[in-house]
Amino acid sequence: MPERRDIDAEARETIRLNDRGNYTVPTAGLYPHQWNWDSALAALGFSTFDLDRAWVELETLFGGQWQNGMVPHILFHQQDDGYFPGPDVWGCSGTVPSSGISQPPVAATIVRQIWNADRKFGEERVRALFPSLVAWHRWFMTWRLDREAVCVTHPWEAGRDNAPDWDDALARIDPSDVGSYQRRDTAVVDPEMRPRNRDYDRYLWLVNLGRNNGWDEARLRECNPFRMADPTMTFILLRANRDLSAIGRDLGLEVDQLDNWTARLIRGAKSLWNPNIQSYDARDVRSGEWSACVSNASFLCWYGGLRDNRMLRHLERIKKSTPYWIPSHDPESDRFDPRRYWRGPIWAFMNMLIGIGLAEASLAREAEAIRRVTANLVKGSGFSEYFNPLDGSSAGGTDFTWTAAAWLAWLGKENGKSEQWAQFS
Ligand code: SER
Repeated sequence: MPERRDIDAEARETIRLNDRGNYTVPTAGLYPHQWNWDSALAALGFSTFDLDRAWVELETLFGGQWQNGMVPHILFHQQDDGYFPGPDVWGCSGTVPSSGISQPPVAATIVRQIWNADRKFGEERVRALFPSLVAWHRWFMTWRLDREAVCVTHPWEAGRDNAPDWDDALARIDPSDVGSYQRRDTAVVDPEMRPRNRDYDRYLWLVNLGRNNGWDEARLRECNPFRMADPTMTFILLRANRDLSAIGRDLGLEVDQLDNWTARLIRGAKSLWNPNIQSYDARDVRSGEWSACVSNASFLCWYGGLRDNRMLRHLERIKKSTPYWIPSHDPESDRFDPRRYWRGPIWAFMNMLIGIGLAEASLAREAEAIRRVTANLVKGSGFSEYFNPLDGSSAGGTDFTWTAAAWLAWLGKENGKSEQWAQFS
Protein backbone atom coordinates (compact mmCIF):
# COMPACT_ATOMS: atom_id res chain seq x y z
CA MET A 1 0.00 0.00 0.00
CA PRO A 2 1.41 3.42 -0.86
CA GLU A 3 2.30 5.47 2.17
CA ARG A 4 -0.26 8.17 2.98
CA ARG A 5 1.24 11.59 2.32
CA ASP A 6 1.14 14.22 5.01
CA ILE A 7 1.07 17.35 2.86
CA ASP A 8 0.77 19.63 5.91
CA ALA A 9 4.08 18.24 7.16
CA GLU A 10 5.63 18.69 3.71
CA ALA A 11 4.44 22.31 3.68
CA ARG A 12 5.94 23.00 7.11
CA GLU A 13 9.15 21.36 5.96
CA THR A 14 9.26 23.60 2.86
CA ILE A 15 8.86 26.75 4.94
CA ARG A 16 11.55 25.57 7.37
CA LEU A 17 13.84 24.84 4.44
CA ASN A 18 13.52 28.48 3.37
CA ASP A 19 13.78 29.88 6.91
CA ARG A 20 16.91 31.96 7.41
CA GLY A 21 16.35 32.54 11.14
CA ASN A 22 14.44 35.82 11.27
CA TYR A 23 13.21 35.99 7.69
CA THR A 24 12.22 33.52 4.98
CA VAL A 25 13.37 33.41 1.36
CA PRO A 26 10.73 32.65 -1.31
CA THR A 27 12.92 29.79 -2.58
CA ALA A 28 16.65 29.11 -2.37
CA GLY A 29 18.65 29.92 -5.51
CA LEU A 30 16.14 31.91 -7.56
CA TYR A 31 15.15 34.35 -4.78
CA PRO A 32 17.75 34.26 -1.99
CA HIS A 33 16.62 37.40 -0.08
CA GLN A 34 13.56 38.64 1.82
CA TRP A 35 10.73 39.63 -0.52
CA ASN A 36 7.96 41.76 0.90
CA TRP A 37 4.69 40.00 0.13
CA ASP A 38 6.32 36.58 0.05
CA SER A 39 7.46 37.29 3.58
CA ALA A 40 4.01 38.33 4.78
CA LEU A 41 2.65 35.08 3.38
CA ALA A 42 5.47 33.18 5.07
CA ALA A 43 4.27 34.73 8.34
CA LEU A 44 0.78 33.45 7.59
CA GLY A 45 2.22 29.96 7.04
CA PHE A 46 4.26 30.11 10.25
CA SER A 47 1.19 31.22 12.18
CA THR A 48 -0.31 27.76 11.68
CA PHE A 49 2.51 26.10 13.64
CA ASP A 50 4.86 28.67 15.23
CA LEU A 51 3.20 31.93 16.24
CA ASP A 52 6.31 33.58 17.62
CA ARG A 53 8.20 32.95 14.37
CA ALA A 54 5.29 34.46 12.44
CA TRP A 55 5.65 37.74 14.36
CA VAL A 56 9.44 37.70 13.94
CA GLU A 57 9.02 37.45 10.15
CA LEU A 58 6.96 40.65 10.05
CA GLU A 59 9.18 42.44 12.55
CA THR A 60 12.19 41.74 10.34
CA LEU A 61 10.30 43.02 7.28
CA PHE A 62 9.38 46.27 9.02
CA GLY A 63 12.95 46.57 10.30
CA GLY A 64 13.75 47.53 6.69
CA GLN A 65 11.10 50.27 6.47
CA TRP A 66 12.32 53.57 5.07
CA GLN A 67 12.03 56.93 6.86
CA ASN A 68 9.29 57.96 4.44
CA GLY A 69 7.19 54.89 5.35
CA MET A 70 7.93 52.78 2.28
CA VAL A 71 8.57 49.09 2.93
CA PRO A 72 10.90 47.82 0.19
CA HIS A 73 10.05 44.90 -2.03
CA ILE A 74 13.43 43.22 -1.35
CA LEU A 75 15.61 43.37 1.77
CA PHE A 76 19.15 42.17 1.13
CA HIS A 77 20.21 40.91 4.54
CA GLN A 78 23.19 39.05 3.11
CA GLN A 79 25.46 39.27 0.14
CA ASP A 80 24.43 36.75 -2.56
CA ASP A 81 25.81 37.09 -6.05
CA GLY A 82 23.33 34.49 -7.27
CA TYR A 83 20.67 37.22 -7.54
CA PHE A 84 20.62 40.15 -9.93
CA PRO A 85 20.06 43.10 -9.53
CA GLY A 86 21.68 43.35 -6.09
CA PRO A 87 21.86 46.32 -3.69
CA ASP A 88 24.66 48.04 -5.61
CA VAL A 89 22.38 48.36 -8.65
CA TRP A 90 19.48 49.69 -6.59
CA GLY A 91 21.72 52.21 -4.80
CA CYS A 92 19.42 52.73 -1.81
CA SER A 93 20.45 54.13 1.55
CA GLY A 94 18.04 52.60 4.10
CA THR A 95 19.22 50.93 7.30
CA VAL A 96 18.95 47.53 5.61
CA PRO A 97 20.23 47.28 2.00
CA SER A 98 17.12 47.15 -0.16
CA SER A 99 15.38 47.74 -3.45
CA GLY A 100 13.81 51.18 -4.04
CA ILE A 101 10.23 50.10 -4.75
CA SER A 102 7.49 48.45 -2.70
CA GLN A 103 5.08 45.54 -3.21
CA PRO A 104 1.38 44.79 -2.62
CA PRO A 105 0.71 45.45 1.10
CA VAL A 106 -0.86 42.19 2.26
CA ALA A 107 0.86 42.59 5.64
CA ALA A 108 -1.89 44.34 7.65
CA THR A 109 -4.42 41.68 6.67
CA ILE A 110 -2.02 38.96 7.72
CA VAL A 111 -1.14 40.77 10.96
CA ARG A 112 -4.85 40.78 11.78
CA GLN A 113 -5.04 37.04 11.15
CA ILE A 114 -2.00 36.30 13.24
CA TRP A 115 -3.18 38.47 16.07
CA ASN A 116 -6.58 36.77 15.98
CA ALA A 117 -4.86 33.39 16.37
CA ASP A 118 -3.86 34.41 19.92
CA ARG A 119 -4.74 37.95 20.94
CA LYS A 120 -3.03 37.84 24.30
CA PHE A 121 0.20 36.45 22.86
CA GLY A 122 0.22 39.05 20.06
CA GLU A 123 -0.95 42.17 21.91
CA GLU A 124 2.45 43.82 22.39
CA ARG A 125 3.67 42.82 18.95
CA VAL A 126 0.61 44.20 17.19
CA ARG A 127 0.80 47.46 19.15
CA ALA A 128 4.43 47.86 18.12
CA LEU A 129 3.75 47.14 14.43
CA PHE A 130 0.60 49.26 14.12
CA PRO A 131 2.29 52.67 13.57
CA SER A 132 4.65 51.16 10.98
CA LEU A 133 1.72 49.70 9.06
CA VAL A 134 -0.08 53.07 9.16
CA ALA A 135 3.08 54.81 7.91
CA TRP A 136 3.34 52.37 4.99
CA HIS A 137 -0.29 52.87 4.01
CA ARG A 138 0.19 56.65 4.31
CA TRP A 139 3.12 56.39 1.89
CA PHE A 140 0.84 54.81 -0.73
CA MET A 141 -1.88 57.39 -0.07
CA THR A 142 0.60 60.27 -0.36
CA TRP A 143 2.57 59.24 -3.39
CA ARG A 144 0.75 56.66 -5.41
CA LEU A 145 -2.85 57.58 -6.11
CA ASP A 146 -4.47 58.30 -9.45
CA ARG A 147 -8.22 58.88 -9.24
CA GLU A 148 -7.83 57.20 -5.82
CA ALA A 149 -6.53 53.95 -7.40
CA VAL A 150 -3.03 52.83 -6.38
CA CYS A 151 -0.27 53.10 -8.98
CA VAL A 152 2.86 51.06 -9.51
CA THR A 153 6.02 52.63 -10.87
CA HIS A 154 7.76 49.39 -11.85
CA PRO A 155 6.32 46.02 -12.99
CA TRP A 156 8.15 44.34 -10.09
CA GLU A 157 6.19 46.50 -7.67
CA ALA A 158 2.88 44.93 -8.72
CA GLY A 159 4.50 41.54 -8.20
CA ARG A 160 3.10 40.58 -11.63
CA ASP A 161 6.35 41.26 -13.43
CA ASN A 162 5.68 40.45 -17.07
CA ALA A 163 1.88 40.61 -17.11
CA PRO A 164 0.55 41.78 -20.50
CA ASP A 165 -1.04 44.65 -18.54
CA TRP A 166 2.27 46.50 -18.80
CA ASP A 167 3.17 45.73 -22.44
CA ASP A 168 2.05 49.02 -23.98
CA ALA A 169 3.55 51.23 -21.25
CA LEU A 170 6.87 49.37 -21.41
CA ALA A 171 6.93 49.57 -25.21
CA ARG A 172 7.21 53.36 -24.94
CA ILE A 173 10.53 53.05 -23.09
CA ASP A 174 13.70 53.01 -25.18
CA PRO A 175 16.16 50.95 -23.12
CA SER A 176 19.10 51.29 -25.52
CA ASP A 177 21.20 53.09 -22.86
CA VAL A 178 20.65 50.43 -20.19
CA GLY A 179 24.17 49.01 -20.50
CA SER A 180 25.22 45.39 -20.30
CA TYR A 181 24.21 43.13 -17.44
CA GLN A 182 23.87 39.47 -16.76
CA ARG A 183 20.59 37.89 -15.76
CA ARG A 184 20.80 35.21 -13.07
CA ASP A 185 17.23 33.96 -13.06
CA THR A 186 17.52 32.11 -16.38
CA ALA A 187 20.43 30.07 -15.04
CA VAL A 188 18.06 28.60 -12.42
CA VAL A 189 14.71 28.39 -14.24
CA ASP A 190 13.86 27.48 -17.86
CA PRO A 191 13.99 30.81 -19.79
CA GLU A 192 10.65 29.88 -21.41
CA MET A 193 9.08 30.30 -17.97
CA ARG A 194 10.66 33.70 -17.26
CA PRO A 195 10.25 37.24 -18.66
CA ARG A 196 11.85 37.92 -22.04
CA ASN A 197 15.06 39.93 -22.34
CA ARG A 198 13.20 42.87 -23.88
CA ASP A 199 11.17 43.12 -20.65
CA TYR A 200 14.28 42.76 -18.49
CA ASP A 201 16.00 45.61 -20.32
CA ARG A 202 13.10 47.85 -19.35
CA TYR A 203 13.02 46.59 -15.76
CA LEU A 204 16.67 47.57 -15.45
CA TRP A 205 16.11 50.89 -17.21
CA LEU A 206 13.46 51.75 -14.61
CA VAL A 207 15.78 50.76 -11.76
CA ASN A 208 18.46 53.06 -13.22
CA LEU A 209 15.91 55.89 -13.47
CA GLY A 210 14.95 55.49 -9.81
CA ARG A 211 18.55 55.31 -8.62
CA ASN A 212 19.56 58.37 -10.69
CA ASN A 213 16.71 60.29 -9.08
CA GLY A 214 17.65 59.22 -5.56
CA TRP A 215 14.37 57.23 -5.27
CA ASP A 216 12.67 60.58 -4.67
CA GLU A 217 8.92 59.96 -5.12
CA ALA A 218 8.16 63.61 -5.96
CA ARG A 219 10.70 63.63 -8.77
CA LEU A 220 9.76 60.22 -10.06
CA ARG A 221 6.09 61.22 -10.13
CA GLU A 222 7.11 63.79 -12.72
CA CYS A 223 9.63 61.87 -14.80
CA ASN A 224 8.85 58.13 -14.63
CA PRO A 225 7.08 57.14 -17.88
CA PHE A 226 5.80 53.97 -16.22
CA ARG A 227 2.90 54.77 -13.90
CA MET A 228 0.05 52.27 -13.91
CA ALA A 229 -3.06 52.22 -11.74
CA ASP A 230 -3.08 48.59 -10.74
CA PRO A 231 -5.84 46.28 -9.49
CA THR A 232 -3.37 44.19 -7.43
CA MET A 233 -2.21 47.16 -5.38
CA THR A 234 -5.59 48.82 -5.19
CA PHE A 235 -7.64 45.83 -4.03
CA ILE A 236 -4.93 44.64 -1.65
CA LEU A 237 -4.39 48.06 -0.04
CA LEU A 238 -8.14 48.57 0.25
CA ARG A 239 -8.46 45.23 2.04
CA ALA A 240 -5.40 45.81 4.20
CA ASN A 241 -6.55 49.25 5.20
CA ARG A 242 -9.90 47.93 6.42
CA ASP A 243 -8.08 45.28 8.41
CA LEU A 244 -5.73 47.87 9.86
CA SER A 245 -8.66 50.01 10.91
CA ALA A 246 -10.25 46.97 12.62
CA ILE A 247 -6.98 46.30 14.46
CA GLY A 248 -6.76 49.93 15.55
CA ARG A 249 -10.34 49.97 16.78
CA ASP A 250 -9.76 46.81 18.81
CA LEU A 251 -6.66 48.40 20.32
CA GLY A 252 -8.69 51.47 21.26
CA LEU A 253 -6.79 53.72 18.84
CA GLU A 254 -7.95 56.55 16.61
CA VAL A 255 -8.88 55.18 13.15
CA ASP A 256 -10.72 58.06 11.46
CA GLN A 257 -7.91 58.66 9.02
CA LEU A 258 -7.75 54.98 8.08
CA ASP A 259 -11.50 54.96 7.46
CA ASN A 260 -11.14 58.03 5.30
CA TRP A 261 -8.45 56.26 3.26
CA THR A 262 -10.72 53.24 2.89
CA ALA A 263 -13.51 55.41 1.48
CA ARG A 264 -11.09 56.91 -1.02
CA LEU A 265 -9.69 53.53 -2.01
CA ILE A 266 -13.20 52.20 -2.66
CA ARG A 267 -13.61 55.01 -5.19
CA GLY A 268 -10.22 54.11 -6.62
CA ALA A 269 -11.12 50.44 -6.93
CA LYS A 270 -14.33 51.33 -8.74
CA SER A 271 -12.38 53.57 -11.11
CA LEU A 272 -10.57 50.45 -12.37
CA TRP A 273 -13.71 49.07 -13.99
CA ASN A 274 -13.12 49.02 -17.74
CA PRO A 275 -16.55 49.09 -19.41
CA ASN A 276 -15.07 48.04 -22.76
CA ILE A 277 -14.12 44.59 -21.49
CA GLN A 278 -16.55 44.57 -18.54
CA SER A 279 -13.72 43.80 -16.12
CA TYR A 280 -11.43 45.38 -13.54
CA ASP A 281 -8.32 46.36 -15.42
CA ALA A 282 -5.03 48.28 -15.14
CA ARG A 283 -4.96 51.91 -16.37
CA ASP A 284 -1.97 53.72 -17.81
CA VAL A 285 -1.81 57.07 -16.01
CA ARG A 286 0.48 58.61 -18.62
CA SER A 287 -1.58 57.76 -21.70
CA GLY A 288 -5.00 57.37 -20.09
CA GLU A 289 -5.36 54.02 -21.90
CA TRP A 290 -6.70 50.80 -20.43
CA SER A 291 -4.54 47.67 -20.58
CA ALA A 292 -7.59 45.67 -21.70
CA CYS A 293 -6.49 42.65 -19.65
CA VAL A 294 -8.57 40.26 -17.59
CA SER A 295 -5.96 38.99 -15.15
CA ASN A 296 -6.08 37.06 -11.90
CA ALA A 297 -5.72 40.46 -10.18
CA SER A 298 -9.06 41.49 -11.71
CA PHE A 299 -10.66 38.79 -9.52
CA LEU A 300 -9.31 40.33 -6.31
CA CYS A 301 -12.36 42.63 -6.28
CA TRP A 302 -14.10 40.44 -3.68
CA TYR A 303 -10.96 40.25 -1.54
CA GLY A 304 -10.98 44.06 -1.70
CA GLY A 305 -14.52 43.92 -0.30
CA LEU A 306 -16.48 44.95 -3.40
CA ARG A 307 -19.66 42.93 -3.59
CA ASP A 308 -19.64 42.96 -7.35
CA ASN A 309 -20.88 39.88 -9.17
CA ARG A 310 -20.10 41.21 -12.64
CA MET A 311 -16.73 39.39 -12.57
CA LEU A 312 -18.54 36.04 -12.20
CA ARG A 313 -19.23 36.02 -15.94
CA HIS A 314 -15.48 36.05 -16.63
CA LEU A 315 -14.93 33.40 -13.99
CA GLU A 316 -17.42 31.04 -15.62
CA ARG A 317 -16.02 31.74 -19.08
CA ILE A 318 -12.43 31.08 -17.98
CA LYS A 319 -13.38 27.92 -16.12
CA LYS A 320 -14.72 26.54 -19.39
CA SER A 321 -11.61 27.38 -21.39
CA THR A 322 -8.82 25.92 -19.20
CA PRO A 323 -8.80 22.71 -17.15
CA TYR A 324 -7.13 24.52 -14.23
CA TRP A 325 -7.78 28.08 -13.11
CA ILE A 326 -7.47 31.02 -12.44
CA PRO A 327 -4.77 31.77 -15.00
CA SER A 328 -2.84 35.02 -14.55
CA HIS A 329 -3.93 36.17 -17.98
CA ASP A 330 -7.08 35.55 -19.98
CA PRO A 331 -6.71 32.20 -21.82
CA GLU A 332 -8.77 33.55 -24.72
CA SER A 333 -6.29 36.38 -25.31
CA ASP A 334 -3.61 36.06 -27.98
CA ARG A 335 -1.03 37.14 -25.38
CA PHE A 336 -1.81 34.16 -23.13
CA ASP A 337 1.24 31.96 -22.56
CA PRO A 338 0.64 29.03 -20.16
CA ARG A 339 4.23 28.79 -18.93
CA ARG A 340 5.67 32.30 -19.01
CA TYR A 341 5.42 33.66 -15.44
CA TRP A 342 2.56 36.20 -15.18
CA ARG A 343 1.30 35.77 -18.75
CA GLY A 344 -0.81 32.68 -18.05
CA PRO A 345 0.32 30.44 -15.17
CA ILE A 346 -1.72 29.95 -12.01
CA TRP A 347 -0.42 31.25 -8.68
CA ALA A 348 -1.74 29.29 -5.71
CA PHE A 349 -1.54 32.17 -3.23
CA MET A 350 -3.46 34.46 -5.62
CA ASN A 351 -6.15 31.79 -5.85
CA MET A 352 -6.23 31.76 -2.05
CA LEU A 353 -6.81 35.53 -1.89
CA ILE A 354 -9.48 35.31 -4.58
CA GLY A 355 -11.12 32.37 -2.81
CA ILE A 356 -11.16 34.14 0.55
CA GLY A 357 -12.80 37.13 -1.12
CA LEU A 358 -15.42 34.94 -2.80
CA ALA A 359 -16.25 33.23 0.49
CA GLU A 360 -16.64 36.56 2.25
CA ALA A 361 -18.92 37.76 -0.55
CA SER A 362 -21.23 34.79 0.17
CA LEU A 363 -20.08 33.02 -2.99
CA ALA A 364 -19.18 29.88 -1.06
CA ARG A 365 -19.63 27.46 -3.96
CA GLU A 366 -17.20 29.39 -6.18
CA ALA A 367 -14.75 29.75 -3.29
CA GLU A 368 -14.76 26.04 -2.59
CA ALA A 369 -14.31 25.22 -6.30
CA ILE A 370 -11.18 27.39 -6.43
CA ARG A 371 -9.85 25.90 -3.23
CA ARG A 372 -10.35 22.38 -4.57
CA VAL A 373 -8.79 22.94 -7.99
CA THR A 374 -5.78 24.68 -6.43
CA ALA A 375 -5.34 22.03 -3.75
CA ASN A 376 -5.28 19.40 -6.51
CA LEU A 377 -2.55 21.33 -8.34
CA VAL A 378 -0.42 21.29 -5.20
CA LYS A 379 -1.14 17.61 -4.56
CA GLY A 380 -0.11 16.77 -8.11
CA SER A 381 2.79 19.15 -8.73
CA GLY A 382 4.10 20.14 -5.30
CA PHE A 383 4.83 23.57 -3.83
CA SER A 384 5.76 25.07 -7.19
CA GLU A 385 6.10 28.76 -7.78
CA TYR A 386 3.30 28.57 -10.35
CA PHE A 387 1.37 26.04 -12.46
CA ASN A 388 0.53 25.56 -16.11
CA PRO A 389 -3.26 26.03 -16.44
CA LEU A 390 -3.48 23.69 -19.45
CA ASP A 391 -2.00 20.56 -17.88
CA GLY A 392 -1.43 21.44 -14.20
CA SER A 393 2.31 20.90 -14.46
CA SER A 394 4.83 22.59 -12.21
CA ALA A 395 6.46 25.82 -13.45
CA GLY A 396 9.08 28.29 -12.21
CA GLY A 397 10.91 27.66 -8.95
CA THR A 398 10.24 24.69 -6.68
CA ASP A 399 9.80 24.41 -2.88
CA PHE A 400 8.11 27.77 -2.76
CA THR A 401 7.32 29.38 0.58
CA TRP A 402 4.08 31.10 -0.35
CA THR A 403 2.62 28.04 -2.04
CA ALA A 404 3.34 26.03 1.11
CA ALA A 405 1.90 28.83 3.26
CA ALA A 406 -1.25 28.99 1.15
CA TRP A 407 -1.62 25.23 1.61
CA LEU A 408 -1.38 25.47 5.40
CA ALA A 409 -3.60 28.51 5.73
CA TRP A 410 -6.38 27.72 3.30
CA LEU A 411 -5.89 25.30 0.40
CA GLY A 412 -5.40 22.21 2.51
CA LYS A 413 -8.54 22.77 4.57
CA GLU A 414 -11.52 20.79 3.40
CA ASN A 415 -14.62 23.02 3.11
CA GLY A 416 -12.43 26.11 3.03
CA LYS A 417 -11.44 28.07 6.05
CA SER A 418 -12.98 31.35 5.20
CA GLU A 419 -14.96 31.54 8.40
CA GLN A 420 -11.66 31.92 10.22
CA TRP A 421 -10.74 34.96 8.20
CA ALA A 422 -11.59 38.25 9.77
CA GLN A 423 -14.75 39.72 8.29
CA PHE A 424 -14.87 43.39 7.37
CA SER A 425 -17.75 44.41 9.54
N1 SER B 1 10.28 39.12 -9.34
C1 SER B 1 11.47 39.86 -9.58
C2 SER B 1 12.56 38.98 -10.04
O1 SER B 1 12.25 38.06 -10.73
C3 SER B 1 11.87 40.74 -8.50
O2 SER B 1 10.87 41.07 -7.62
O3 SER B 1 13.70 39.17 -9.76
